Amino acid sequence: MRHTKEEKAAEAARLRDFINYHNYRYYVLDDPEVSDAEYDTLMRLLQAIEREYPDLVTPDSPTQRVGAAPAEKFGIVVHRRPMLSLANALDAGEMREFDARVKRMLGSEADVEYVAEIKFDGLAVALTYENGRLRSAATRGDGLNGEDVTANVKTVRSVPLRLLAPEAGSIPTLLEVRGEVILPRRAFEKLNAEREQRGEPLFANPRNAAAGSLRQLDPRVSAARPLDIYCHSPGVVEGARWATQWEFLEGLKALGLKVNPHNRLCPNIEAALEYWQEMSERRGRLDYEADGVVVKVNSFALQQRLGEVSRAPRWAVAYKFKAQQAETRVLRISVQVGRIGFLTPVAQLEPVALGGVTIASASLHNLDEVRRKDVRQGDTVLVERAGDVIPYLVRVARKGEPRGPEFSMPARCPECAGAVAHEEGEAGYFCVNVNCPARVRESIRHFASKTCLDIEGLGEQLVGQLVEKGLVKELADLYELKDRRAELVALERMGAKSADNLLASIERSRTTTLERLINGLGIRHVGESTARQLALEFAAVEELAEASQERLESIRDIGPEVARSIREYFTEPRNQRAVKRLRQRLREVRAPARAPQHQSAVAGLSFVLTGVLETMTRGEAAEKIHAAGGRISSAVSARTDFVVAGREPGSKLDEAKKLGVSIISEEELRALLGAGAGRTSHGR
Ligand code: IVH
Repeated sequence: MRHTKEEKAAEAARLRDFINYHNYRYYVLDDPEVSDAEYDTLMRLLQAIEREYPDLVTPDSPTQRVGAAPAEKFGIVVHRRPMLSLANALDAGEMREFDARVKRMLGSEADVEYVAEIKFDGLAVALTYENGRLRSAATRGDGLNGEDVTANVKTVRSVPLRLLAPEAGSIPTLLEVRGEVILPRRAFEKLNAEREQRGEPLFANPRNAAAGSLRQLDPRVSAARPLDIYCHSPGVVEGARWATQWEFLEGLKALGLKVNPHNRLCPNIEAALEYWQEMSERRGRLDYEADGVVVKVNSFALQQRLGEVSRAPRWAVAYKFKAQQAETRVLRISVQVGRIGFLTPVAQLEPVALGGVTIASASLHNLDEVRRKDVRQGDTVLVERAGDVIPYLVRVARKGEPRGPEFSMPARCPECAGAVAHEEGEAGYFCVNVNCPARVRESIRHFASKTCLDIEGLGEQLVGQLVEKGLVKELADLYELKDRRAELVALERMGAKSADNLLASIERSRTTTLERLINGLGIRHVGESTARQLALEFAAVEELAEASQERLESIRDIGPEVARSIREYFTEPRNQRAVKRLRQRLREVRAPARAPQHQSAVAGLSFVLTGVLETMTRGEAAEKIHAAGGRISSAVSARTDFVVAGREPGSKLDEAKKLGVSIISEEELRALLGAGAGRTSHGR
């Protein structure tokens, strides 16, 4: 049966509805109804139709989340209504004053109803929906003009590209909704751990990471970061009748927009203060950074009467949380050298207890950060724990007397006295000496770490000694240590037993996987997940070494920057030699096992075949589906995933329509069966 284009268009529309709905279940409600494999299949079917008929692609199609090409720079968006900021209250007294002022201005003694919300520490954006379709997304900018970040915001999975039709009422003709884009704490920690592994400078906090991710010119970079959003306030709205902030928030939920579940309707200011107290205690357990509570007059009519003053509404106030902070003194600012040679300034502190741990140092990330904070030796600084573990230097509390000189990056590497390079306009400084002991040390530590070659017993101290004594100059030398056992035994805190244990675990690591080996090389921008991708594409490290820029860029999730860095690594003769020597010493490097359910888009799904197929018999089709891990049943039920309809289909087709089961053509089945070669992950 040939499908007409109209039928395909209808099918595509149905698939989009399905995908949008399941997206909403997964990203907004955090309560998925279908498996990842099923979601993948829906996506593939839609992609197949859109490939066949490119003019059927709509900008709000779920396939278009990561579609946009990198931009030169962001366009400017003029906000239809300015994005305001908030006045702060410093304590409960000021909150009560705020309440008294509201009542005075309204000329009433009666309690005012408030909505209390979390104040998210993220990046403010304005989303504009026209007739339910996401048209644009802009940053706050200066409040009047923002940057057009539509392509990047579209990669945020909890941002619907199309609004859901609410059960009551209808979709507003124009809805500008404002919210906060955040990077969940766990994702932030993972991102920084990966950056550390790749030897890249770390983000100072989740907010900076979210801002950095959203303001990427290449939407693929944003897409790789699991950003999230909470919507919290209206911009210009037409075609909706919300009378209060609370109704508005409920309305957003009904439209499929993500709203924070902790929002609370408070009958008076005391209830809002209780909310603040409660959230102060819970904030550490939230998976995102919250810096306080926002309290808003609930009624829009009253809000309007109150108006605004100097770019802040009189009807809302922010009440910040108290940070877990402590003061301590900067003993000195040292500079650490990472695996790729990046120089990181670190404040060495007089140890101080804070929230159950002792803090003795805090990273200052880069020179700009030190300059901005103007931290110097001898200063008393305020430190706090951002997230769970990373100590963060907030600011200088009191200048030291005496005070050290202004910090500057050393002209020579503090480890090897080699030259330090710095790219104009970049925050980073790095040691260019590939033999720098710090770099060698860090690269060996990385190579030996759990997610790489997993060599037990090769800790920081030991690696330091091995490098210092010249026993190890590059990775391959680890495998020569067995011939230098005596020297090994003679090392500090070593002895025969530890030496033999170490040699045994080095020996064990000679059998490894391609993924671990690629990760272990320590190529800039290549961490665990990129290494996995590469291991799926290339049969051996030698093949990866030969791959062209184009070939590398053609791999999913690998952009020009990562591809370039891989090329740079393998074109360097020293690395070529080092990798060759290393490879000769490894016994076996296994290519990844490709689990069948990851190979096939059909795995785990149930099919019913009906009618006459053109390019294969029903028996052959069934065999292929079986081989790809799918199931065949003879009757259609609500549990059937797809009915494959050939020419002259029988009653099974009617049954499928009645039950709302997806109907696909033979061509689509073939696309599904053939689509298995790569990965099926769609980034969830
Ligand atoms: S309401 C006019 N609600 O805080 C009211 N803002 O300091 C302003 N923010 O630019 C927006 N969480 O980006 C509102 N629950 C929340 C918020 C929130 C964070 C941000 C917002 C604003 C900034 C003002």
